[in-house]
Amino acid sequence: MKNLLSIEQLTGDEIRDLLALGHKLKAERGHHEHLPLKGQTWALIFSKSSTRTRVSFEVGISELGGRPMFLSVHDIQLGRGEPVKDTARVLGRMIHGAAIRTYGQQEVEEFASFSGIPTINALTDEEHPCQILADLLTIEELYGPGSWKDMKIAFVGDGDNNMSRSWMWAAKRLGFTLAIGAPTNYLPLEDFRRHLDCDNVIFTTNPVEAVRDASVINTDVWLSMGQEAEGQSKEKHFYPYQVNEELLAHAAPGHSVFHCLPAYRGKEITEDVLERFAPVIFQEAENRVHAQKAVLATLAEASKA
Ligand code: CP
Ligand code: NVA
Repeated sequence: MKNLLSIEQLTGDEIRDLLALGHKLKAERGHHEHLPLKGQTWALIFSKSSTRTRVSFEVGISELGGRPMFLSVHDIQLGRGEPVKDTARVLGRMIHGAAIRTYGQQEVEEFASFSGIPTINALTDEEHPCQILADLLTIEELYGPGSWKDMKIAFVGDGDNNMSRSWMWAAKRLGFTLAIGAPTNYLPLEDFRRHLDCDNVIFTTNPVEAVRDASVINTDVWLSMGQEAEGQSKEKHFYPYQVNEELLAHAAPGHSVFHCLPAYRGKEITEDVLERFAPVIFQEAENRVHAQKAVLATLAEASKA
């Protein structure tokens, strides 16, 4: 594993190894004997806003002995049109790794290929792999190691965004049942479904069918970053897919609600549900640190080999 560009590009074993290392690093937090990023500088190149991803990477890199360098695209020449491939070749000669949050998936792919240094997708329009690793870690903490295997997981909301796509690839790689509940025009297109080619991912426009007997119910914003201009014309389709107590009455006993945050109360989730599941939702947020430390340590070791 040289980069983490998507869940699609990982194997099931790589995901399982990252989760095992994430648990270990979480247990060791504050007293790591081995510092795989010692003497290294890792850049965080962000074109979009972030609270959790930025802070968890800065903390994780520091805790593994490295130095994080936050680069907003508004402050570097990339934001004035310098090509990704030139930025990548410069940084590849100066730093040891990078996490990138941007729009197009091809930008992180291009950065990885031209920089030659370990590159992490810190969210693109296509995928949010770091969040899914943190969520799987959280499921294992709540329900036991490998518990996702025999579970139905639901994703209700925009079925064609970065979070839902990363969940679909996780279901493909790990074999759990995933139900995507979304309005007709916000389910993945036929091309994507053919490419996914996965019988254990179920698509439905019926939110009740999606959450029925599900143990973990995920939701996410209806308007992802970059889609703000779509406003009400997109949001109006999603109200029947709000995660509220009425919908959760159909979920499995002992279910949990996950949200990657930030959350918009009264839209994709109600205040009551968010606060009832706040311990789980903020555990997910905390686990960004531990899951990403597993990614950083794995990539740093691989690049030294
Ligand atoms: N969940 C997540 O990625 O949060 P941020 O946008 O705050 O980084
Ligand atoms: N789908 C959301 C995730 C935010 C963490 C977005 O891209 O804005």
